[in-house]
Amino acid sequence: MFKKKLQKFDHKTLIKCLQAEDELQQELFQLARQIKEEVFGKKIWFRGIIEFSNICQNNCFYCGIRKGNKKLERFKVSKEEILDCLKFIDKANYGSVVYQSGELISEIFKKYLLEIVKTTHKKYPQLGITVSCGEQDFNFLKKLKQAGAIRYLLRIETSNPELYANLHPEKMSWEKRFGCLKSLQKLDYQVGTGVMVGLPGQTIEDLIRDLKFFVDNKFDMFGIGPYVIHKDTPLGKDAKIQNWWQENKEKNFNIFLNFLAILRILLPNVNIAAATACDVFDSSGRIKVLQVAGNVIMPSVTPKDCRDKYLLYQNKPNIDEGADKSFKCILNKIKKAGLEPVFGEQGNSPFYYKHN
Ligand code: 5AD
Repeated sequence: MFKKKLQKFDHKTLIKCLQAEDELQQELFQLARQIKEEVFGKKIWFRGIIEFSNICQNNCFYCGIRKGNKKLERFKVSKEEILDCLKFIDKANYGSVVYQSGELISEIFKKYLLEIVKTTHKKYPQLGITVSCGEQDFNFLKKLKQAGAIRYLLRIETSNPELYANLHPEKMSWEKRFGCLKSLQKLDYQVGTGVMVGLPGQTIEDLIRDLKFFVDNKFDMFGIGPYVIHKDTPLGKDAKIQNWWQENKEKNFNIFLNFLAILRILLPNVNIAAATACDVFDSSGRIKVLQVAGNVIMPSVTPKDCRDKYLLYQNKPNIDEGADKSFKCILNKIKKAGLEPVFGEQGNSPFYYKHN
């Protein structure tokens, strides 16, 4: 069996499993599923995600809401609308909310975010609050935590600083991002990170490095998705990359599923979310993730009129629907797949309680 070999980070086995197809892939999935079910059973926890602003100061080469994308109309969801979103989350009994936005470090932005978190915690003290608003300074993260946030998501995007440098403008630094993850751990957040799989220039060795990085740094949660091209970005405008992406997207999605299965085998009791980007390739992409490795789903609660403006990548699914439809749709799929939706629970990472 390859379980022990994977756990020992046997290089050949990792490569074989990352590239697994057909029978070997089924064997890998089976093992990941079994390990997941030993910890979580068939349960799936919900977080309602509110993408409350697409204003961003950064210029990541892959991302559709990058500052340099002048074609995009920018929005910020008002406090009143956020209260409506919270009402929905409360009614649907999701158990958790995620506040996500582009990255801004202005005082106005910080004040707004802090207020939202405070209000949420006051009105709905049982709700698990996750924030995902990019790199923020230690003091502000501390204030957010005091205001009621318990989890923070910040993807490292890739564990390879060189690849990171190829995908970001010079003023963004891998070390600074890593430092921010360390601050979050110091502040006792449940800390989530992740990467994109299938990035241009990313090798199998990079993915192995990512897995090692995840294990070594004791993260509690993971949001990992396939890279999806966006035409209004530097990567998307490059004809060579476009062709490469089209030709390799299916193969890379397979590698992505294998990557998550291996991650689950390496870290049985962390939270793994099924990213929306999975549904770009296959309308049951998220379900596939939940069947193999994931235990968390984050249906969008973003106001309907903002959804088509929060496009990190092309062909984002479900942008014409409201929170209610997103909920019913994914709930049906979850039940059909024989999984058990959980309501009214925060669904915190068991791994966090082990190392804290
Ligand atoms: N394809 C897939 N994921 C993307 N993200 C940004 N742009 C893309 C893209 N083109 C991801 C990044 C970021 C998260 C919020 O969205 O990993 O951290």
